[in-house]
Amino acid sequence: MRIVLLGAPGAGKGTHCKRIADRYGVLHLSSGDILRRERAAGTELGRKAQGYMDAGALVPDELVGAVVAARLAEDEIRRRGCFLDGFPRTLVQARLFERLLAEAGLALDRVILMATDDVDRLIKRLTGRRVCGQCRAVCNLVYSPPRQPGRCDHCGGPLEQRGDDTEPTARERLRVYAEQTEPLVRFYEERGLLLRLDAAREGLELLSEVSLALGLS
Ligand code: AP5
Repeated sequence: MRIVLLGAPGAGKGTHCKRIADRYGVLHLSSGDILRRERAAGTELGRKAQGYMDAGALVPDELVGAVVAARLAEDEIRRRGCFLDGFPRTLVQARLFERLLAEAGLALDRVILMATDDVDRLIKRLTGRRVCGQCRAVCNLVYSPPRQPGRCDHCGGPLEQRGDDTEPTARERLRVYAEQTEPLVRFYEERGLLLRLDAAREGLELLSEVSLALGLS
């Protein structure tokens, strides 16, 4: 099964992908997580990506395309399929992805659009997000506050804010999404692959809808 989750920053792509992956043993491939790991490891790709990510801009297609293509070619991903979160994000990436799948004799099953244009809600989710510096669990100061301030509920590690989750950068990411990623909605609609779900709802209601739509429940 190969599924793309499409949606604005803060729509809940990572939150839902992680839960689906845990529940059904599907692989979760997040281009943002891949890039953040490259940065943390100080690789050449990570250094090149850093400035774009901190500014809320997209990392150039050729850099992201190469690293995601390498992951997609891995045996486990080819065998078990995956949920793609954050890729493709431009028309260039969508065409590259289509070509990679065709060359491998594989197909994309579905594109789930987590749709909302409630910018205030998205900003609230993004600026309230905290990530554990130790186990990488995600919580939210507004929607799922930690029991002990500043400490992860799972491992007690320190909670950190992502550098691009400040309000000005989050607003820029939403602008970039509207300009460069929204055209993918039409691209996948034309291919009959798009399923639109309402991402404005709080909590995990959407999770059962996604599972149902994919025949996973
Ligand atoms: P990336 O890491 O992909 O960030 P993003 O797309 O901006 O997505 P987010 O992680 O912010 O949003 P999400 O929808 O996953 O939200 P989440 O579920 O965590 O990319 C970061 C950067 O890397 C990009 O800006 C770019 O520079 C670069 N990059 C990555 N991929 C690229 C590509 N393909 N091409 C070029 N550049 C690329 O939720 C957010 C918060 O809200 C959490 O705290 C969560 O708990 C809360 N929340 C979510 N849903 C709900 C809900 N239903 N109810 C209550 N709380 C909720």
